[in-house]
Parts: sequence; structure tokens; C-alpha cells
Amino acid sequence: MMILGIESSCDETAVAITSGNKILSSIVASQNDIHSRFGGVVPELASRRHAEVIFTLLESAFEEAGVTMDKIDGVAVTKAPGLIGAVLVGLSTAKAIAYATGKPLIGVNHLEGHLNAVHLREENVPYPHIGLIVSGGHTSLYLVKDFGKYKLIGATRDDAAGEAFDKVARLLGLGYPGGPIIDKMAPSGDPKAFKFSSPQFRNAAEFDFSFSGLKTAVMLEYKKLTAKNKISDKDLKNLVASFQSTAIGFLVKNILAAAKEYKCKAVVVSGGVAANKGLRANLEEIADKNDLKIFVPPFSLCTDNAAMIAYVGGRYLEKGIMSDLNLNAQAVEEIGV
Ligand code: KG4
Ligand code: ZN
Repeated sequence: MMILGIESSCDETAVAITSGNKILSSIVASQNDIHSRFGGVVPELASRRHAEVIFTLLESAFEEAGVTMDKIDGVAVTKAPGLIGAVLVGLSTAKAIAYATGKPLIGVNHLEGHLNAVHLREENVPYPHIGLIVSGGHTSLYLVKDFGKYKLIGATRDDAAGEAFDKVARLLGLGYPGGPIIDKMAPSGDPKAFKFSSPQFRNAAEFDFSFSGLKTAVMLEYKKLTAKNKISDKDLKNLVASFQSTAIGFLVKNILAAAKEYKCKAVVVSGGVAANKGLRANLEEIADKNDLKIFVPPFSLCTDNAAMIAYVGGRYLEKGIMSDLNLNAQAVEEIGV
């Protein structure tokens, strides 16, 4: 089945065309240029930029795939969760295309897209597996029993992991988005120089996360270090390395505990933070030690993209599941609660 996918839930406008698990084209227009000076995504600016670029992206996606609209079997689009105005741009566009062409519309949950992006690269991902979505908006752990069968087993109680990277980078005056900057800088510092810790929740079987305490601890340490003089280059690098290693340690600890609890032999990690080199190295290490298979899609499929939306839409359309043209956008929608 050939599917046109559209994604606009945050600050990336994306259009893709897939056929089963093959990507025929996948185009992503990032908005970092307009948001970076604010140190975070400005919702109104995001919606406006989506509306400005989406038609050009559609044309490019068809051109790159070398197909025309008549070959498309369905239009898949992110319906939730996300910035409501941003989601609405993609959803309205998809609805208009579906209405004008008579093709089926399939509304897709963005998180379900992230959890399944791995199938665009890997043929045999075993079920059940543990799925971690770790991005600027989410840090959620799922037991993935099968396609479409998810159980949410852990989520952040405050900041998402990517949000913590971005906030810490802003605090240290390093720039935006903070994740890639901290990732690049961390190897030059000593991860043990500062002792930060992650919270322990009362119930040992809880796989929740929390990053706001860590962010505050980094802030307090930074204030101490800058009370009298400018922070030294060495201290700054050590602070960054210690923060990253604590944040990664927390993610990995919960992944391992969940895999043990649910007797899973495979783990899938997705979302922008999955690009982190320190996290990837740590995951490889635990995979070897614990006889686990770890799947981390390439960066272009970890971050927001429309190919993952088209793939999930195609799976539902195959089962005859599609959406009504009355489909509405939702800012919040969990899967597998
Ligand atoms: O999945 P994504 O592109 O967008 C959503 O949030 O949905 O993730 C963006 C987040 C940002 O917070 C960014 O700082 C973080 O992913 N990120 C990273 C790295 N690359 C991107 N965090 C840590 N290390 C990285 N290499
Ligand atoms: Zn996302």
C-alpha cells in the first residue's frame, strides 16, 4: 500500500510517501532557525511556518518518490498529541487532500509513530519488547506486546529528558537545541566530577522518570561555581559530562528493570535523545551484558518525521481501519494507558 504521510505536531513540518516498510520519500523541514533565539518552540510561530511550507513539501515528496496522487492508497496524518495549532495545519491539509481525492484518511497518534519507526529499518523486531520514547516532549516507557498493543509502564513526572538537556544547555549559556551541544561536549569532561543522583520512587516496580531535580542540582552547582568568578572551561565540561551521565544512567536503569520485569529480550529506543552518543554506547554495553537486543533507528527516523506516520497509517488501512473526515486534533492523547 502506498501511503502519503503528514506530520506537523511540533517544530518539524514533514511529508513522506511509503510503500509498506519502504520509504519512497521523506522530507523534513526543521524550524530551529525561528525558535532558537527563544530557547524553545514558540507555538504560534510553529503553526505559521507549517502553513507556509507544507504545500512545497508535498510537491517535493511526490517529486522525490516519482509518483503521482492517483497511486496513493491513503493519507495518514498525525492527529495527536502535540501543539494544537501545529497539529491542525497538517490535519487540515490531510483532510482537504482526502476530501478532494476521495482517498481514505487515517489519523495516527504521534507516539505510536515513534514506537514503530524502527520497522522502516528492521524486518524482525521481536515481540514483546520494551519501547522507550525519549524526546523533547516525552520520556515514556511502553511494553509493546504487538503492533497496536501498547501498555504505558513509565513516564516522566516533570520534564522530558530532551527538555532537561535543552534547559541545562540554556542555563549554562550553551545554545539551543541543547541535546546535540551537550552530547558533543560531554566526552571532554569527567562524568564523575560532580555527584548528581536520580530520584528513587517508593514503588520499585514503577518505571517513571523525573529530570527536574537533576536540572535544579546542575543549576545550584553552576551558581556555586560562578559565585565569585567566571566558570572555568574544565568545570563547565565536567558539569556537562556529569549531567549527561546521570540523565542517561536513569534512562538505562529503567529500561533494564522493565526488560527484566516483563521478560523482554528486545528494546526499541526512539525520539530525538536517542541520537545521544553516550546513550547509544551505554545501551550497547547493557545489551552485551544482559543478552538484550537493542534497536535504535537512524537519527532521521528517531526524530520527528512523516515516514513513521505513513507506516502506521498503512498498517491500519490494511486492517480496514480509517478515520472520518470529522477527525479532530488533540493536544494530549496517550496510547496504551
Ligand atoms: O524527537 P525530537 O526531534 O522532537 C520532539 O521533541 O518531539 O526531539 C528533540 C529533542 C530536543 O530536546 C533535543 O535537545 C534532543 O531531542 N536531542 C538530543 C540529541 N539530539 C537531539 N538530546 C541528547 N543528545 C542528542 N544528541
Ligand atoms: Zn516526536
